[in-house]
Amino acid sequence: MNNGFESKIVAFCCHYCAFAAADLAGVLRLKYPPDLRIIRLPCTGKLDTLFLLKAFEKGADGVLVAGCLEGSCHFISGNLRAKKRVLAVKNLLERLGIEKERLEFFNLSSAQGERFAQIAREMTERIAKLGPLRSSGRCPYDRG
Ligand code: FES
Repeated sequence: MNNGFESKIVAFCCHYCAFAAADLAGVLRLKYPPDLRIIRLPCTGKLDTLFLLKAFEKGADGVLVAGCLEGSCHFISGNLRAKKRVLAVKNLLERLGIEKERLEFFNLSSAQGERFAQIAREMTERIAKLGPLRSSGRCPYDRG
C-alpha cells in the first residue's frame, strides 16, 4: 500500500526466468509490496496485446511484463516480440490519455530474486505517484 491506496499491478511473468526469480525472492524472504498479482506465462512471447488491455479494463492500475534476458529466451525471441507489443500498447495508452508509465517491460534472469523484488518496489512506487487509474478521470473504461 502506498500513497493512501493499495494499487493493483498485474505482472505477466515468463515461467523460466521472471517467475523463477519471483519464486527465488520468496524463498529468500525478500520483502516487496503485495500489490502484484503474478500471472505465469510459458514465455512472454505468448502474451497477446489484448491481455494487457484486458488487465487495465478489469481494474489494474499498472501492468508489468517480465521476461528472460535478451538472448536467453527459451523460445528464442519471445521476449523481443513481447517487448515490441508492450511498446505498441504503451503508445496506444498514450493516445487514450492514460499514462504510458503504467505499463513496463523488464528483463531478468531466474537468479535475480533481488532484482524481481526491486522491480516490484519500483512499479509500486511509480503507480503510487500516478494514483489510481479509475479515479483519474482519464480511464476510458469508466465512461460507461
Ligand atoms: Fe522467458 Fe521467453 S522463455 S521470455
